[in-house]
Amino acid sequence: MKRDFLTLQDISSDEFAAIIKRASELKSGKDAHACPLMGKSIGLLFDKTSTRTRISFQTGIYQLGAQPIYINSKELQLGRGETVEDTAKVISRYLHGIVIRTFAHSTIEKLASNSSIPIVNGLTDLHHPCQALADMLTIWEQKGTLKDVRLVYVGDGNNVANSLIEAALHTGVDLAIACPRGYEPDRNIFQNVKDNGGNVQLYIDPEEAVKDADVIYTDVWISMGQERETERRRQIFKKYQVNKELLSLAKPDAIVMHCLPAHREEEITSEVLDSPQSVVIDQAENRLHTQKAMLEMLIR
Ligand code: CP
Ligand code: NVA
Repeated sequence: MKRDFLTLQDISSDEFAAIIKRASELKSGKDAHACPLMGKSIGLLFDKTSTRTRISFQTGIYQLGAQPIYINSKELQLGRGETVEDTAKVISRYLHGIVIRTFAHSTIEKLASNSSIPIVNGLTDLHHPCQALADMLTIWEQKGTLKDVRLVYVGDGNNVANSLIEAALHTGVDLAIACPRGYEPDRNIFQNVKDNGGNVQLYIDPEEAVKDADVIYTDVWISMGQERETERRRQIFKKYQVNKELLSLAKPDAIVMHCLPAHREEEITSEVLDSPQSVVIDQAENRLHTQKAMLEMLIR
């Protein structure tokens, strides 16, 4: 039976912990020459631009012994009207897995239900589960634990925020989300995690939220596909900038995270992004290790 990784709900908390542990082993160089996916081919089907996801998957798949095949979906017959269903059935006969980055989350669900091979979510408008895996490894490395670490996400309740909420349920991270009214994370995801005992809270006031924070995390105010809302969003999120003043309200040893790419001087100042408290480059590196551990688990 094939397994997909569309959201963090597709894995158990034990599997989540196993991925973090295995990623840390791989990062330390263990099994560097093992090629568990030797002879396999994995497609990378991208509808949106990417630096980290694309390059870390291409590199990681190669390091696991498999062949990555990058496909800009505009160059497929999909772009000329071939259905997702037909495409999924056909490419399942060639490939051993697909990483896809697209807009609507329903597209990835349709691809998964029509494919006989594992489908991995490389970001949709609703979720970014691979990012949250790397984020949790980064926090674990920095703080030595995940349980009860106070993670405060400041900004738009977007795909990155939604996946952090699901990660909180798996890890016991104490997650606060500070966002303007109307820009909260997905209501169903939030409620489901809360109902299942996840430690997640919503705030309007970023200054109140970041008190006692161990980690301050932010993401762009204008996600891919929202470019037409740029001016409105810049006004609405103005008070949610992660800057020196906001950081000073957190614990003195708080770290700063951002999934990148950053819009400097918008959601975060360069002063904070480039400060010694920022771990964003380690966080980006950890995409490679956590995705390799996840692929080892998923692809047979
Ligand atoms: N964080 C992240 O997913 O980056 P890319 O958009 O560059 O892949
Ligand atoms: N929320 C951002 C994340 C980019 C990695 C976006 O969807 O564009």
